[in-house]
Amino acid sequence: GKLKMFVDDLPDMPRLYGFNSFHGIIKPASLQIGMFSTKWKFHRDLPATPVFAYGTSRSKATVPGPTIETVYGVDTYVTWRNHLPKSHILPWDPTISPATPKHGGIPTVVHLHGGIHEPTSDGNADAWFTAGFRETGPKWTKTTLHYENKQQPGNMWYHDHAMGLTRVNLLAGLVGAYILRHHAVESPFQLPTGDEFDRPLIIFDRSFRKDGSIYMNATGNNPSIHPQWQPEYFGDVIIVNGKAWPRLNVRRRKYRFRIINASNARFFKFFFSNGLDFIVVGSDSAYLSKPVMTKSILLSPSEIVDVVVDFSKSPSRTVVLANDAPYPYPSGDPVNEENSKVMKFIINNELEDDKCTIPKKLINYPNADVSNAVLTRYISMYEYVSNSDEPTHLLVNGLPYEAPVTETPKSGTTEVWEVINLTEDNHPLHIHLGLFKVVEQTALLAAGLEEFKECMTKQNDAVKCQISKYARGKKTAVTAHERGWKNVFKMMPGHVTRILVRFSYIHTNASYPFDPTQEPGYVYHCHVSRISKYF
Ligand code: C2O
Repeated sequence: GKLKMFVDDLPDMPRLYGFNSFHGIIKPASLQIGMFSTKWKFHRDLPATPVFAYGTSRSKATVPGPTIETVYGVDTYVTWRNHLPKSHILPWDPTISPATPKHGGIPTVVHLHGGIHEPTSDGNADAWFTAGFRETGPKWTKTTLHYENKQQPGNMWYHDHAMGLTRVNLLAGLVGAYILRHHAVESPFQLPTGDEFDRPLIIFDRSFRKDGSIYMNATGNNPSIHPQWQPEYFGDVIIVNGKAWPRLNVRRRKYRFRIINASNARFFKFFFSNGLDFIVVGSDSAYLSKPVMTKSILLSPSEIVDVVVDFSKSPSRTVVLANDAPYPYPSGDPVNEENSKVMKFIINNELEDDKCTIPKKLINYPNADVSNAVLTRYISMYEYVSNSDEPTHLLVNGLPYEAPVTETPKSGTTEVWEVINLTEDNHPLHIHLGLFKVVEQTALLAAGLEEFKECMTKQNDAVKCQISKYARGKKTAVTAHERGWKNVFKMMPGHVTRILVRFSYIHTNASYPFDPTQEPGYVYHCHVSRISKYF
């Protein structure tokens, strides 16, 4: 039978502190976090599921992993240790050039998504390591990663990033939240605080077999070439903080939720069943300039939205956080009874004075000023079709991941990127290190589009192929709550998305010093598919 909804309480993941307080002085801290093979109860009526989980020990490992709490300006060092067994709990495809240790074991490497830090701490896909650091990938340099926490306050998440195994390592459970706080800047906002009223919600979809194990379709779209590889994963069960469709008893007051979409391919279009508002205060790793009220939020894989929900405004005693995003987004199947529900809130009757206000202003970071950009890059995403290689490979500017670096931005500069999505799907583009603002999205004219694609297949040069002739369709404005600085955004199919990328901090005029030629560099990529490129 189907699993019953709203029977498990929403967990709050254990918190780890990436700093030490000593007589009022805050000092750097070193954490040891392991990856363990263990079992996790996703639902009251589902047998415990074999998972891979982050934690300080096997018995403390959770899915998602512990929430790492950090403080502005205080370094956090993490030694990530792989304690995983020889073989994976999920099928992974050997034909998509994954990390391949000679002596077996599971390659892992951790990326702090949204972090601004040195490249050797960025979790390069080729900096993988197996259990006990027995074997390491070609770009591996050290056991302890250094997160400087010198960037703007906000929400990040950490997840596995190993070449060719990222999807299965995440599906197995290797994800967690990371919060960077800046008390002097944030406390005047008077947003809800404390572990009870300020919670990360890590949301993803999974499918399970009757025995509780994670189900993943292990037959590739074209098994004669890729025996297991499917470009996207969708599950029927919606999981929040490790429980299927959980419930949370809330007081009649304001709460803050830091919502992270940790799904492989599922977009969520969140709304409340009783019309309650979201008051958006931040997005991926940065505050907005002011709170924005909205009834619906479209969140692609790896995007983050930071919201306040005022349950005192709820007209009903219970409210469901719901979803109506088709999958794949935007042109796939409509949601069904199961994946249209996320979690339920049961609201206490008694009205409370929470002393939290919704501030008029949050943080005014520099605006997206296109005229300051030092150059314009054209980034085209398209599917490379060949008869011998299905499903199609997705390429950036016609080049595979292995190709030599073509983007070498300079520290402290701003660039315009025109991202041309010639595929049928909406791709969440994520840029490591840089932060960007979305300027606008312009539809490509249907007439002549085939011509353009053909030219691109031959020449890989958007300017020579006259992109300006085709990028003349309808413009889609960026929604108000998405106008802040971000590190992921949804590249609409058949559109050119203009983004302004800043290779510098946004909260100061200082820039993070990096050398674009220094190994292992940084990457930008689609968070669903195998579109990926260095800089
Ligand atoms: Cu969240 Cu390179 O990834």
